[in-house]
Amino acid sequence: MGKDVIVACDFDSREKLTAFLDRFPEEKPFVKIGMEMFYALGPDVVREVKARGHRIFLDLKLHDIPNTVKKAMAVLSGLDVDMVNVHAAGTRAMMEAALEGLTRPDGSRPLLIAVTQLTSTDEERMRRELLIDAPIAEVVMRYAANARDAGLDGVVCSPLEAGKVHETCGAGFLTVTPGIRFADSAKDDQARVTTPALARQIGSDYIVVGRPITTAEDPAAAYRRCLKEFVDNA
Ligand code: C5P
Repeated sequence: MGKDVIVACDFDSREKLTAFLDRFPEEKPFVKIGMEMFYALGPDVVREVKARGHRIFLDLKLHDIPNTVKKAMAVLSGLDVDMVNVHAAGTRAMMEAALEGLTRPDGSRPLLIAVTQLTSTDEERMRRELLIDAPIAEVVMRYAANARDAGLDGVVCSPLEAGKVHETCGAGFLTVTPGIRFADSAKDDQARVTTPALARQIGSDYIVVGRPITTAEDPAAAYRRCLKEFVDNA
């Protein structure tokens, strides 16, 4: 599986999204559409971005009973997206149902990855509110192993965890990693950041990059810089 850069399109209107995509006359970046845009604009936005020739990671983080997730996944699969996700906390039965729902009659399906513990949940909250006593790193690896055992393709994680996830779940298990910043750019609200080059070194398969590209004066140039650091640099 080749490495790639996924651009997080966190916009609140179709106009902003279209203006952004218009800045890419040559390349067709892999884009991430999240809850905000999907809930605001509906499935049409997915069809439109797909029609422009982009691959799409639909980041809706499903988490419900297995049967509901299976049926919702069948709908998303019909939208012809390339990658979708669920919360590993939904358990193996839910992840297996998600895979089943995603698989099209011809056997093809989008990639399915799992969110382990959200980075907004720390060890203290896990212990106090969720009554999970294990260290957070262990919980993340266990959730990743559950996702692998359920047949999923990978997990969303920090680039700093990518090496360990590959060790635990195998080299072919995908790591999709946000929290990326250029060495010389603002961290914004991300606490621990990694450069595209370091993410490559640690073993991320896909980096998810938002503001360093979406707010750049020349987004296409920033995107190319990411590709160069993450994909081209051997
Ligand atoms: O703008 P920035 O590069 O920080 O955007 C990163 C993207 O990755 C956002 O869409 C954010 O919601 C997502 N994300 C994250 N950290 C996680 C999971 C998802 O930054 N742990």
